[in-house]
Amino acid sequence: MVTINIPDRLKRFEIPGRVTLLEGNGDLPKIEVLSDWSRAEIYLHGAHVTDFRKKGEPPLLFTSQFSRFDPAQPIRGGIPIIFPWFGPREGEPTHGFARLADWELHEVIALPEGGVTLRFSLPDTAEGATWPVFTAHYVVTIAESLSVELLITNTAPSQSFSFESCLHTYFAVGDIGAISITGLKAATYLDKLDNFAPRTETNDALKISSEVDRVYIDASGVVEIVDPSLKRKITIEKTGSSSTVVWNPWIAKSQQMPDFGNEEYRQMVCVESGNVGKNRITLAPGKTCVLKATLSSVAL
Ligand code: BG6
Repeated sequence: MVTINIPDRLKRFEIPGRVTLLEGNGDLPKIEVLSDWSRAEIYLHGAHVTDFRKKGEPPLLFTSQFSRFDPAQPIRGGIPIIFPWFGPREGEPTHGFARLADWELHEVIALPEGGVTLRFSLPDTAEGATWPVFTAHYVVTIAESLSVELLITNTAPSQSFSFESCLHTYFAVGDIGAISITGLKAATYLDKLDNFAPRTETNDALKISSEVDRVYIDASGVVEIVDPSLKRKITIEKTGSSSTVVWNPWIAKSQQMPDFGNEEYRQMVCVESGNVGKNRITLAPGKTCVLKATLSSVAL
C-alpha cells in the first residue's frame, strides 16, 4: 500500500499504530483503523466503511470485488449512508447524495479502552443547497464491535426538515441459503418486489431462497443473522431507527448490476437500519436526531 498524495490536512489525523491515511482503490483517500480487537477501512467518499473484521475472523462486512471506486459513483458494499431520501427519485441519484459526497474528517480519538472513534461531516453540496438547512455528522467507533451513528440537525430558524435515512449495511455471510434472520416476526413489511404490497412477517427466522427486497416498518428491535457456514451470529442493535430493510438481489438482479459479481449474492445480505417511507423523520428547527447501529458478532 502506498501513502503518496494524501494531503497534509488528512495526514495530521494519523495516530501511529491506530490510524493511517492511505490511497485506496481508485486513488480515493482511505483510512485504515486498528483497534485492540479489530481492523477497519473507511473511505472519505461517502464516509463509507468498507471493511470491519475482528482479529482472526472473516470480514463482518461484504464489499463487492466489482465495486466502482469513483467519485461519481457509490461504493457497492460496506455501509453506504443513505440520506436524505431512500430509493429512486426522478432526475436525482438513487438513495440520495450523501453516499456520493466526499465527507470531511474532523476528529480522530484513540479511546483509552483500545478502540478508535472518527467523526465526519457532510460538506455543503450543490444538491444539499436545495434542501432546508441542516448539518450531517457521522461518528464511527471501531472496537470489538462496529458502531455507526448518523446525526442530523435542522439548523433552519423556522422551517421543519423532513428526510429519510438508512445505514445500508452489507453483511458478509458464508452461504445465503443457510442463514436465518431473526427479530422481525410480526412486523409489517412493504414488499418492493410486489409494488410495495403490505404483508406481515410470519417467520421466527427468515430464510432467503430468492430475491428479497422488503421494508419493515415500525421495526426498531434487535435483528440477528445466524450463519451456520461461518459459524457465527451477527447482532444488529439500533437506536433512533424505526425501519429495517432486508435486501438480496439474487440471480437476475446480480447479473444486471455492473458493479456486482454474478455469484456474489451468495455471500452477502443487506440488513439496513433506518427511517424510510412512513417512518421518515421530520425535525423541528434546532432539533437533532441520531440514527445509530451497533454491529457485533459471536462465534456459534
Ligand atoms: C435497497 C433497496 O435498499 O438497495 C433496493 O431496497 C435496491 O431496492 C438496493 O436495489 C440497492 O440499491 P443501489 O442503488 O445501491 O443499487
